[in-house]
Amino acid sequence: MQVDMLISRLDALVAGGASFDSILESAVEAVHQLDPRFDWTGIYELYPDDVLRLGPFVGSPTDHVFIGVGTGVCGTAVAERRNLNIPDVRKVSNYLACSTETRSELVILIRSGERIHAQIDIDSHQVGAFDDAAVASVQRVADWLARRYRARDSDPGR
Ligand code: SME
Repeated sequence: MQVDMLISRLDALVAGGASFDSILESAVEAVHQLDPRFDWTGIYELYPDDVLRLGPFVGSPTDHVFIGVGTGVCGTAVAERRNLNIPDVRKVSNYLACSTETRSELVILIRSGERIHAQIDIDSHQVGAFDDAAVASVQRVADWLARRYRARDSDPGR
């Protein structure tokens, strides 16, 4: 699926009154289908205690349901407040292995300025799977989701 179509489908879910949680699940499933090189796709949400908690995901179950800020690739992205594109996780000392087959990992923050809501985390079995086009597509979904987080936070009843 192309990212334009993905965003249109998500817009339609919002227009149809879908819950925030179901929108998040649909976004993860759709991102996973964007590229056959995406072998595990999930969202980690950042909680006020500075812990990332695993939300919806597609792929094998992982032991890393809770990740502290500063730990692993996911926690480092939050600590450094930046996206991380790791071409070869075997070269990263603080990497937390989700699967022994993972070779590259992409973390794109879902943020509103300085406020980090969550992150999209993607693992691939291929080295260097995340080219500029893949990163740009995932970034578009992250920016779209940031708007949903803002809408939810301004109206917690929805
Ligand atoms: N590899 C991540 C942990 C999450 S699993 O890949 C799903 C990390 O190093 O933070």
